[in-house]
Amino acid sequence: MDTEARQTADRLAAILESAVDGIVTIDAKGMIDSVNQAAIEIFGFSRDELVGRSVNQLMPSPACDEHDAYIENYLKTRKAKVIGIGREVLGCRKGGMEVPLYLAVSEGRHNGEVLFTGILRDLTDLHVAEERARAAEQLASLSLITAGIAHDIGTPMNVILGYADMLRDSLSDPKDRRRAEVISEQVRRVTDLLQTLLNIARPQKPVSVSVRVAEVLDHALEFFREKLRSRQIVVDRRYEGDPEVLGDRDRLEQMFLNLIVNAADAMPKGGRLTVSVESTSKDGIHISIEDTGYGIEPEALGRIFEPFYTSKDRGEGTGLGLVVSRSIVLDHRGTIEVESEVRKGTRFTLHFPAFERASRTA
Ligand SMILES: Nc1ncnc2c1ncn2[C@@H]1O[C@H](COP(=O)(O)OP(=O)(O)O)[C@@H](O)[C@H]1O
Ligand SMILES: [Mg+2]
Repeated sequence: MDTEARQTADRLAAILESAVDGIVTIDAKGMIDSVNQAAIEIFGFSRDELVGRSVNQLMPSPACDEHDAYIENYLKTRKAKVIGIGREVLGCRKGGMEVPLYLAVSEGRHNGEVLFTGILRDLTDLHVAEERARAAEQLASLSLITAGIAHDIGTPMNVILGYADMLRDSLSDPKDRRRAEVISEQVRRVTDLLQTLLNIARPQKPVSVSVRVAEVLDHALEFFREKLRSRQIVVDRRYEGDPEVLGDRDRLEQMFLNLIVNAADAMPKGGRLTVSVESTSKDGIHISIEDTGYGIEPEALGRIFEPFYTSKDRGEGTGLGLVVSRSIVLDHRGTIEVESEVRKGTRFTLHFPAFERASRTA
């Protein structure tokens, strides 16, 4: 190669290597031919673990099992699913964690051989931002509805309360007086509930201090100790390290309380509640709250984060616990996911970005 050609080649290599998007090239057999630095970072494999190996290892199943046949079929029929089109796919990081990606594949030739070039963009941050926007919108509409309801219901409730009290004072039979009191008590329950709704739906001022996750979880568990014990629920705590997140302690505790109460509700005949905290400086903090309760039907799984969705009896469930919990998690730049199997149990997994205390590293 002459100097000029070499310079051009070096320049192109430098451009590809420094691109923000991941670039992976594969041959007609699906073997990885080259990767750039961004692709290495997206997948967490080293260059040696990628080049010369099958691209299938970067895909979750079942896509990885179908991929070889797919390339073969494409080369025969030219019917493309991604090639020349581009779309959202799931990738698989080293260790098995899935990562949402936008993938655009183009087909080219090099030395007479087919070469596919995949350009990949990590959509994780975008997805988190979208989810946060959606939750904020839901919460905004929720507070509008609640404010309306609170007003429309609150006014007649106060009238009922006033008359019930007057009635009680005018009655002489203790039984009748007691009946009037029950009316007042029940009306107060409704007005309290309205107040709670207003409190949770009202936008909160953000507080940001370093919060020790395990300590907050313990505090929340302590709060329910009696309830858990009387239900014969065994608590299994698995804390690795003592990670901190930046945020609002009270709201984080509120979120844990919601998840713990749901887990307890799912185990009326006892069971095991496993809470774990794990942190790595690279991946951040993982928290899971897992129960051995009755689980969630697949049809319901997609709805549990909707406002007012509840499977509980009237007076027992508001259908707001998870809405509020999710918005708290998102406000802490975190994510919340759920897995469940009917009659086996449910696991909520939370993930927060790592927070490194400046004084610790200094
Ligand atoms: N750990 C769990 N096990 C089984 N079902 C659950 C669990 N957590 C939440 N759910 C389901 O999600 C629904 C919504 O939960 P939530 O928003 O906290 O409202 P609520 O608890 O008032 O019903 C619950 O009614 C229940 O059907
Ligand atoms: Mg709940």
